[in-house]
Amino acid sequence: MTFGTSALDFSILPYEEGVNPPVTKPNPAFLTDIGEEGMRALFSRFYALLFTSPIKDIFPLNEEEMQIASGHSADFFIQICGGPHYFNKHRGPPQMRKRHAPFPIGPNARLHWLVSLEEALQPIIEQKQSSTENIQSFWNYVNVFSQWMINTRD
Ligand code: HEM
Repeated sequence: MTFGTSALDFSILPYEEGVNPPVTKPNPAFLTDIGEEGMRALFSRFYALLFTSPIKDIFPLNEEEMQIASGHSADFFIQICGGPHYFNKHRGPPQMRKRHAPFPIGPNARLHWLVSLEEALQPIIEQKQSSTENIQSFWNYVNVFSQWMINTRD
């Protein structure tokens, strides 16, 4: 395992209109490293950051609903990282583009979303909860798949 932040590349792929680049799922070892509780804690931090971010208006307006939304997202990411299918069980088939369609998500909203996620990942890096390689694999997935969610210009 390689630890440390130096090799991590959090650069964001430029958005190209009308292009949905091929997605590679995160390495399941990311989930093995941080555990289900680590994933829930990551999304709890992330949603707390979104709650005060420039894109807060597209998310639930109170903290209780935000925590529920955070739980749904954590369920999804546990599943996509090879863990139990909590999301399918609680919410049905992912159909992410369809689920995001009601929310105006433009290229700038995507940037704020990714920057908040990068910040939420910091304790995992600082506390060496996962390897550089596995964190990178998680980032690469969200970096690419977040482009698929764009449904408007902002
Ligand atoms: C491009 C930036 C993105 C923005 C601005 C965004 C925004 C949102 C919003 C507004 C919601 C609804 C919150 C709620 O009321 O439950 C949501 C839900 C969700 N998002 Fe995103 N999202 C983005 C990218 C992604 C990506 C890349 C993924 C997965 C890889 C994802 C996974 C989810 C999941 C699992 C839910 C919960 C859906 C449900 O419970 O039915 N999002 N997102």
